[in-house]
Amino acid sequence: MRESISGKYIDEDRQGEALVAVAENATAGKKLYLESYGCQMNFSDSEIVASIMNTQGFTTTQNPEEADAIFINTCAIRDNAELRVRNRLRQFIQIKKNKPELLVGILGCMAERLKTKLLEEEKLVDIVAGPDAYRDLPKLVATADSGQKAVNVFLSREETYADISPVRLDSNGISAFITIMRGCDNMCSFCVVPYTRGRERSRSVASIIQEAHDLFAKGYREVTLLGQNVDSYKFEEVGGEVINFAALLEKVAEVNPLMRVRFSTSHPKDITEEVMQVMCRHKNICDYIHLPVQSGNSRILELMNRTYTREWYLNRIKMIRDYIPHIGISADIITGFCTETEAEHEDTLSLMEEVKYDYAYMFMYSERPGTPAAKNLKDDVPEDVKYKRLQDIISLHRHHAFESNKKDVGKTFEVLVEGESKRDSSMLKGRSSQNKMIVFKADENIQKGDYVMVSITECTSGTLIGNMVKN
Ligand code: SAH
Ligand code: SF4
Ligand code: F3S
Repeated sequence: MRESISGKYIDEDRQGEALVAVAENATAGKKLYLESYGCQMNFSDSEIVASIMNTQGFTTTQNPEEADAIFINTCAIRDNAELRVRNRLRQFIQIKKNKPELLVGILGCMAERLKTKLLEEEKLVDIVAGPDAYRDLPKLVATADSGQKAVNVFLSREETYADISPVRLDSNGISAFITIMRGCDNMCSFCVVPYTRGRERSRSVASIIQEAHDLFAKGYREVTLLGQNVDSYKFEEVGGEVINFAALLEKVAEVNPLMRVRFSTSHPKDITEEVMQVMCRHKNICDYIHLPVQSGNSRILELMNRTYTREWYLNRIKMIRDYIPHIGISADIITGFCTETEAEHEDTLSLMEEVKYDYAYMFMYSERPGTPAAKNLKDDVPEDVKYKRLQDIISLHRHHAFESNKKDVGKTFEVLVEGESKRDSSMLKGRSSQNKMIVFKADENIQKGDYVMVSITECTSGTLIGNMVKN
């Protein structure tokens, strides 16, 4: 099963990859090997970490063997995410056995969840740093260098790293993330994020706009605004004016009409018509929404504490499509949540049938210690039943995605060129505004960062294929 997380998804093949700075801006000095797991927010945090470590003379490397420090930025969302990290950690610890001066650090959500327990369990780990503790990394590294264990898992109510300019890691030079808020104040009963990332807080408008300007000046042509629940973004300016998400989105869209704007994740209880109106006003805000549903059954939604019903969700989808009929829509779905019956599972399938998602991220429920569901509900759907239900929704979703792609054959889309196709270097790849991956033949002078019109000639369930057309 794929272990990619949330609307801000990181492709399966990017999970755990070494993140390397495109621009090496420190010369000599030490090497940091940084590997990231989980959602886009975590990958975005790694860029903050790289920036802070840069100030300490560390540049990033792709080779763990030559590193002076190895950091793993971890995810705790499901049990298998943690298992994966532990397996990887054991490999790094093997390197440390032959090189005792190597620093091994565990960062991110699993560090926050397990705190000092990690040091008891994994004796060769030197540093444990939670998501709000990255400013403290220089001190933690110094402590570890002196031979002591270094831990900071303090969760802040204010930290947004607003003033830290991220070092863009492993970037295509075209798309970048901008974290606009941190933490989450919702209490979905299955979810560990409120415990690993703390209270919700919004980053200042000025620092977000500044970052968007800088990215455009450096050649970036697409930004994705990140938050666990972007619709609850709220920042009070000095004069008392309160900027909500719709207003922020508009300001980012106005940075430059040639820069595409995406955002993730929207919450069905909070998404507003005002956001849709801003999307309609600005062509460069992409026609795409990630609106996690989790379940199609209202009783299960209540147990999940999602604070909406099936009917409410479907009504939001209608509202969105009334504004933008050909919008791309994706969702997250959990199968086999506590007490889910076969009939309730069928409700999820029937909701999918009504919405027909263009993309979906589907997971088996994994109980997380300390969450309300772990405390109050029984994880009583057997693994094989969860698995079977997951297969049901995956195959239904594939069918929908293929149908949706087939409808696009014969149409023409504006594509932001991201580079050469991995499979065939004579083809280019990029995404439509609806976030569909398009592989196409183009004139030789076309480069990444260009916008081209592509006419679709064929498709698979995952990709549209076509040819550039002159407009
Ligand atoms: N803030 C985002 C989601 C963050 S977590 C939102 O509210 O949509 C990303 C996804 O992981 C969730 O949408 C959910 O589908 C899944 N997830 C979270 N906790 C899980 C758990 N305990 N078991 C299985 N999937 C889970
Ligand atoms: Fe988790 Fe719910 Fe917050 Fe999303 S909105 S991060 S699922 S608690
Ligand atoms: Fe993201 Fe995983 Fe943490 S999904 S917020 S890295 S638990």
